Amino acid sequence: MRATRDEAGDVGDVGRQDGADLAGDLGERREVDRARDRRAAAEDQLGPLGPGHLTHGWSVSATGTWFHAVQYSVRREDGRVDFDEVRDMARRERPRIIFCGGTAIPRTIDFPAFASIAREVDAVLVADIAHIAGLIAGGAHPSPVGHAPVITTTTHKTLRGPRGAMIMSDAEHAKALDRAVFPGLQGGPHNHTTAGIAVALGEAATPAFASYARQIVANAVALASALVERGFDLVTGGTDNHLILVDLTGKGIGGKPAAKALDRAGIECNYNAVPYDTRKPFDPSGIRLGTPALTTRGLTEAHMPQVAAWIDEAVDAAIKDDEATLSRIAGEVRELLAGYPMPGWAPA
Ligand SMILES: Cc1ncc(COP(=O)(O)O)c(C=O)c1O
Repeated sequence: MRATRDEAGDVGDVGRQDGADLAGDLGERREVDRARDRRAAAEDQLGPLGPGHLTHGWSVSATGTWFHAVQYSVRREDGRVDFDEVRDMARRERPRIIFCGGTAIPRTIDFPAFASIAREVDAVLVADIAHIAGLIAGGAHPSPVGHAPVITTTTHKTLRGPRGAMIMSDAEHAKALDRAVFPGLQGGPHNHTTAGIAVALGEAATPAFASYARQIVANAVALASALVERGFDLVTGGTDNHLILVDLTGKGIGGKPAAKALDRAGIECNYNAVPYDTRKPFDPSGIRLGTPALTTRGLTEAHMPQVAAWIDEAVDAAIKDDEATLSRIAGEVRELLAGYPMPGWAPA
């Protein structure tokens, strides 16, 4: 995903101009509109899942108004990023920014490969590590430092802090980013959240957090393999990190009814588009599972076959409208987790 050199202007200028000025300044309004139509048509066809996030310039996000973005996707056959496609696209489009990272990527992000493409076309590589920041901090995923001059993250996913965000950059881009954030976008600071983030970062620097990060991945790998054994179709066939994207097409149930049934069975996940989804984004074909929360509760690989069995049974029950089975599973989940209370919370 990218903002083009022509339309975005300087990276640091973006926060100070509104979308209309930005396009107008460059005198390319109609071309921008045509590109947006083409992009919307492509999104409609693919569903909102290349390997990215809405905030990387998707037309339905404000960022899609400010920037002209085009999306690379993943290969149909294996759900992986096709770096030849990314390179060809970068050579053709000459972007100012290339984003890597995203919201439903179950595999290791190859930062050096993205960096080499960005260098070739003189683009700024932005690594959005929102999902994997905790894994990186704990040494369970390679770091983008030294490859991406700008790194963005949320603080509330695997980093396990309060809802917030951070932007890290090299000295070259620091001033432009600071200006774009304030006064460009941000109001007053939320000091209580900043204090909470400081605590989370303190935790993330400990050896215990590194063990936590490794266990998240070990649990995800074990859960993925137990799901595959039960006949689930996983995007990319498995996972290298904390998340698993399950394509339910072959099961004959949409992601939304499955996720809602799993919720009633005491298992939290979200419905999610899969690559080249034939269903609509709000009623997609997949569910996205993650292991950070159950790892925090103290579950290990040994528990994952049971978790997979519950998921399997619950999806089956959803297909059959079998509420009694969902309630029974919810009871079993409660019973297991009674032995693994939330840290810092003593049940009465
Ligand atoms: C890859 C990625 N980037 C950015 C964000 C933005 O986070 P938020 O929705 O909290 O603004 C998310 C959140 O889902 C994300 O997954």
